[in-house]
Amino acid sequence: MKELKIESIFQVYDDLNELPNDVFLLMNNAIKARIKAYAPYSKFKVGAAILLDNGEIVTGNNQENVSYPSGLCAERTAIYYAGAKYPDSKILKMAITAASSNQKTKQPIPPCGACRQAIAEYEIKQDSPVEIYFMGEVGNIMKSNSLSNLLPLLFDKKAL
Ligand code: THU
Repeated sequence: MKELKIESIFQVYDDLNELPNDVFLLMNNAIKARIKAYAPYSKFKVGAAILLDNGEIVTGNNQENVSYPSGLCAERTAIYYAGAKYPDSKILKMAITAASSNQKTKQPIPPCGACRQAIAEYEIKQDSPVEIYFMGEVGNIMKSNSLSNLLPLLFDKKAL
């Protein structure tokens, strides 16, 4: 028996002002998208913004439904829209922000497992990493250099 240790490394920015200019702009797009989220049930609004290699920014937010599982997270709303509209463009960066109406969200909110799986699909398809920046409503921003850093041992199409 052997043990396998997998490490993930993240960068942590103190606040929005510490971000590089393009990411600051991207996160501001995510914030604008978050404010427009449709989250009447959870009251937890999430916004995502994606920077493509053609310079376009695509945004999305969570869309809830009275039949709860029919709703969709912000990250997948954004990434599926990017895939639908710009199928040949690479995704360079993704910014995510979340805010609850119950409390001030100060911790960075990472994408859920299903969204990680969806982002992984595009990272594998384009054969280049997606930088992911995530935050709450205020406070630190965490950066992952790739989705695979957030989803070690991911299911690989080579297994099919
Ligand atoms: N949500 C997202 O939009 N992204 C995530 O990664 C986690 C959860 C949404 C789904 C639901 O509308 C609300 O947040 C509460 O789970």
